[in-house]
Amino acid sequence: MDDLEGKCAFVTGGASGIGLGMAEAFTGAGMKVVIADIEQAALDEAAQKISQTGATVHAIQLDVTDRDAMSAAADEAESRFGAVQVVCNNAGVASRGFLADATYEDWDWVLGVNLGGVINGIRTFVPRLIAGGIGGHVVNTASLAGLMASPGNSVYCTSKFAVVGLSEGLRKELAPKGIGVTVLCPAAINTRFNENARNRPAAFKNTGTQMSDAQMALLDQSFAGGTSREEFGKMVLDAVRTDAPYVLPHSEFKDAYRAKVDDILKYWSDEEPTAQRLEGNQFRRQAFEMMWEE
Ligand SMILES: NC(=O)c1ccc[n+]([C@@H]2O[C@H](COP(=O)([O-])OP(=O)(O)OC[C@H]3O[C@@H](n4cnc5c(N)ncnc54)[C@H](O)[C@@H]3O)[C@@H](O)[C@H]2O)c1
Repeated sequence: MDDLEGKCAFVTGGASGIGLGMAEAFTGAGMKVVIADIEQAALDEAAQKISQTGATVHAIQLDVTDRDAMSAAADEAESRFGAVQVVCNNAGVASRGFLADATYEDWDWVLGVNLGGVINGIRTFVPRLIAGGIGGHVVNTASLAGLMASPGNSVYCTSKFAVVGLSEGLRKELAPKGIGVTVLCPAAINTRFNENARNRPAAFKNTGTQMSDAQMALLDQSFAGGTSREEFGKMVLDAVRTDAPYVLPHSEFKDAYRAKVDDILKYWSDEEPTAQRLEGNQFRRQAFEMMWEE
C-alpha cells in the first residue's frame, strides 16, 4: 500500500508500546487511526497525545478476546472513519515459568489474548477487507519468540509460533485479493510489556509464573535497552508500504536462527521420493489451488 494518506488503520493494544508506536507512525503518514485497548486510562492518554499533533484518532475500549465487542468496534471504526484498510492485531500478554508449572489459567489467558485476539481480528476484519475490494493490509504482532523457543517462556512461544504460522498462511491466501500481510518478530522493544500482569483478569489469576524480583528486574533492564516504539513504528509503516512479509529488527539473533534452521535440515531426510509420493504432492497442491480459484 503506497498511498496511505486519509486511509483508516485499526490497532489493538494501541494505548501503549508497539501499538502506540504504530498508531503514531500511521498518523504521521496522514492516516486516520482507531486505537483499541483494554485499558481506558491509557487509551485516553494516548488519544490525547496523538490528537495534539493534529492527527485524526479515535479510541475504543476493547478486550480482544470478546468477539461481539470486536465486531462492534469494527462497526464503530467504519462509521467514524469509513472502511478500515490496515488492521493491526497487536495486543499481547505473557506469563513466564516452566511448562510443567503453567496453570490452565496461564494457558487460557495467554492463548486467549495472543492467538485468540489475532483470530478474532481476522474473523472480524478480513471478510470486510475482501468485500471492500480495494486491497488493504493486515499486521500481526508475533515476536522473535514466534521463531525460536526459549525455556521459561514456552506458553508465550506457543502463542507466537501460532501467530507466525497463521500469518504466513494468511499472506498466501490474501495475496490474490491484493491484501498484504506482515508478521512482526522483534526481540526487545522498550514498552510496558514486562508489566503485562496489570491486564490479567481475575478469572485467570491462578498463575504458575516462577519469576523472582531479581529475574524480573533483569527483564526490565532488557526491555529498557530495546528499540524505541517510535523507531519500531516506522519500521512497521515501511513494511505496510512495501508489503514486507516480516519485520525482523534485531540482527544479533540472525546467526542463532540460521543455526536452528541448519539443525532442522540435519534431520531432514535426503532419500529419493517415490513417484507415487511426488504425484500425491501434486494432487494436494492442485486441491488447494482449486480452492483459491473458486
Ligand atoms: N516489547 C517487546 O519487547 C515485545 C517483543 C516481541 C513482541 N511483543 C509483542 O508486542 C505486542 C505489544 O506489546 P508491547 O510490548 O507494546 O506491550 P505493552 O504492554 O506496552 O502494550 C500492550 C497493550 O496491549 C493491551 N492489552 C492487553 N491485553 C489486552 C486485551 N485483552 N485486549 C485489548 N488490549 C489488551 C495493553 O493494555 C497494552 O496497552 C504484544 O503482542 C507482545 O507480545 C513485544
